[in-house]
Amino acid sequence: MCRIFAAILKGGKASPILTAGLKRLEYGGYDSAGIATIHNGRLFVKKDAGKINEVDRRLDFGSLPGSLGIAHNRWATHGAPVQVNAHPHTDCKGSVAVVHNGIIENFAELKKELLDKGHHFISKTDTEVVAHLVEEYLLQGISFRDACLHASRRLEGSYALAVISTVEPSRIMLLRKDSPLLLGLSDEGNFASSDAVAFIDHTQDAVPLDSGEMAELTSSAYSVFRTADGKAVLKKPIRLEWTLEEASKEGFPHFMLKEIFEQSRSLHYALNLQKPYLELMAELLDRSKTVYLVAAGTSYHSCVAASYIYSELAALTAIPVVASEFVEQYGRSVNVDSTVLLVSQSGETADVLRAAEYVKAKAATVLGITNVLGSTLTRVTRAYLLQQSGPELGVAATKTYASQLLTHMQLALYLGKKRGKLSQSEVDYYLDAFKKTPELVEQALREHDERMKKLARKYLSRKHFFFLARGLNTATALEARLKLSEIACTPSTALPAGESKHGPISLVEKGVPAVFIAPDDGTNKLMEGNIMEMKARGAEAIILGARDDEKLRRLSDEYVALPPDIPGILTPIVYVVPLQLFAYHMAVEKGLDPDKPRNLAKSVTVL
Ligand code: F6R
Repeated sequence: MCRIFAAILKGGKASPILTAGLKRLEYGGYDSAGIATIHNGRLFVKKDAGKINEVDRRLDFGSLPGSLGIAHNRWATHGAPVQVNAHPHTDCKGSVAVVHNGIIENFAELKKELLDKGHHFISKTDTEVVAHLVEEYLLQGISFRDACLHASRRLEGSYALAVISTVEPSRIMLLRKDSPLLLGLSDEGNFASSDAVAFIDHTQDAVPLDSGEMAELTSSAYSVFRTADGKAVLKKPIRLEWTLEEASKEGFPHFMLKEIFEQSRSLHYALNLQKPYLELMAELLDRSKTVYLVAAGTSYHSCVAASYIYSELAALTAIPVVASEFVEQYGRSVNVDSTVLLVSQSGETADVLRAAEYVKAKAATVLGITNVLGSTLTRVTRAYLLQQSGPELGVAATKTYASQLLTHMQLALYLGKKRGKLSQSEVDYYLDAFKKTPELVEQALREHDERMKKLARKYLSRKHFFFLARGLNTATALEARLKLSEIACTPSTALPAGESKHGPISLVEKGVPAVFIAPDDGTNKLMEGNIMEMKARGAEAIILGARDDEKLRRLSDEYVALPPDIPGILTPIVYVVPLQLFAYHMAVEKGLDPDKPRNLAKSVTVL
């Protein structure tokens, strides 16, 4: 879950560009940072443990000379986050430097082999073997390109690698197996990174590499090869639609808050889904005997909500499954009649891609929803929908969750129409309602930011929360719990309200805050009972309900009033907003940085 960035310019220094790119990639890893450049045939390396800004202040990355370099933000997997383990890693002679995202699974065997040959290692990382392996092949007198190609064939595991060498100081080699990697092409020079956000201020023209490919980059050209046989692959650039403005904080103190506030805009984009793909995916879903919705974390919560939505709008049974459990839980029952809809914001989550690989081997149909054009998910699926939320840099998913929900809803609508489960007037009603989601979310943001800040202050010292809901807002409860735990490090229990008296209610005592997500969607009568049960045992009821629901208001200790008359299926998009804000303000009030949650990285690219 580290991030890499490489730049090779026609003129001028690469280090300031590499430093700026690393700062934008910080969401992917922030326990160490480093840059290597080549100038006048010499390799220069600066690296250290710490957040990029601190390390840059200490080392002054921008002073590194040379028009070519590689850079890295680390999120430790092998070896503690200390200077010696920070990337770039070099060979014995200091002529090869490497940055890496992923895990080299056979590094211990390779290291032993290289130690036996007299190589000298200084770090505890898996990555260092790559520098020595390339050195070993260079010693045999082959070209830098071939040395990288040979080295890649020895590596097991996952990697996005950028390699430079003083042997050929005017090129960068890039290797990809599983971990994301794409090239950026511009008139001033060329780039490569795990994420286009690193170079988006220089170019929007990108070439995503596929797994098993290597690219050779000079300041004015690129070529791509298959690592298995060294054959050239013709790859045309694609045009990325993101701008730098979209990838920066726009005056908000944190990316997370900026992205929460951006939701009305990103929902607007999510209304522009590609119609031919909606039709094709609806057709493929309709033909399937079994449908699984496979995802991780927040994306999984969108699938929980979606299972209700596909049933409600299209009478389709769609089973939401946590990606890391999919193969074990349903693997044997997948067959040619199954469809697996993968949902992944990044399109790079390893557990999701593992499920894809497995079901493809069983001839199932693989579909996708993602936010990242050119991501691996877009290449392993038969058809996919781009949710078009723009880059999400806060580690916590917020705006992409809302857009995933709206994407599922539109697909469900197409499917419902196709299956004859909805009349034309119902279709028109929902289409009209979908168009109102940006405004409804805007209203929730306007009305509840200050309020949620006050509630965060009031409940700051409470040790444990409950989030309870019924129907598809069970997903909202799960998502509220995830946000509060990952950002504010506050434990909570989330469950369908009807389950509380089957056990969890024993945790309730005087003063425990219980958040009830209770829109006016037909589940309210039952919910009132659940609220009473919890209150009778001392819980403080924070209720999210319709503005005009006086009964619920009277039952509450705190009432969060949301717009009335929202169609039930849209409520998860609106009701999650105050809860995202609550988690954000809790984190800030606790002195935590919501953009850098403890132990987490944005995209989990290892199993
Ligand atoms: C939570 C969060 C994670 C991701 C999960 C899946 O705020 O961001 O739980 O939702 O890692 O990531 P994607 O959607 O990229 O597959």
